[in-house]
Amino acid sequence: MIREVLQNLLMGIRPLSRLALRFHRGMGEETGPAEDIFRRFTVSAPVAGKRVLEIGPGKGWALGKLALQAGVSGYTGADVAPYLGSEGALACHLFDGRRLPFPDASFDLVWSVAAFEHFRHPREMILEIQRVLCPGGILFCDVDLRDHYHLAQEALWLDCLRHPEWQWRLMTWYRSGYVNRLRLPDWEAMFHQAAFEAVSLKPYESALLGQVISFEAVMRRA
Ligand SMILES: C[S@@+](CC[C@H](N)C(=O)[O-])C[C@H]1O[C@@H](n2cnc3c(N)ncnc32)[C@H](O)[C@@H]1O
Repeated sequence: MIREVLQNLLMGIRPLSRLALRFHRGMGEETGPAEDIFRRFTVSAPVAGKRVLEIGPGKGWALGKLALQAGVSGYTGADVAPYLGSEGALACHLFDGRRLPFPDASFDLVWSVAAFEHFRHPREMILEIQRVLCPGGILFCDVDLRDHYHLAQEALWLDCLRHPEWQWRLMTWYRSGYVNRLRLPDWEAMFHQAAFEAVSLKPYESALLGQVISFEAVMRRA
């Protein structure tokens, strides 16, 4: 635990965390998975002419490029880390993880892959997503509920739940692998409070652990 606390405190020092960003891998750069995600996100809601916001695109515009090819009217990213800037019609906005820098009802669709579990302020973020979506707008998200420090060992996928909240924060708050440890019922309650209605919700279970370890949600804003 001491090692994790030290790593976390070091990542709280801005120049060091900026340096560490360069070494993060597998953050939205691969086209193969993006094509599969794009198919899933577009099967129930065609994108042509739509304004799309991607929450937490990470290091790559793979989804954005597919969306532009499919004729979206705009594709914008919002991230708390400066992985991406602008590339042609694609622009990523850096923000504080609490208040999205867009006016109300700016988007028809919000997409997000493997970012919700990293939210430090999940309730505020869900309300913000609701605010920037237009009425009837759709949120698509893939959320990974596993312990990100033990992704290679299925038996440890829920290891993060062993710690009290204060200890977990002390170990991970500033690190990119921080996960907020919310479970599916917590997310469902937040969606409900923000007046989202479920279009579809697919939980995935670990057979070994007998627990939900990720989910895909399609939510409509009232
Ligand atoms: C594991 S990466 C996923 C990147 C990409 N979506 C992918 O699938 O490879 C998580 C991303 O979410 C971002 N993130 C964390 N908290 C966020 C927040 N509150 N709002 C937006 N992005 C956030 C991180 O900076 C990072 O880019």
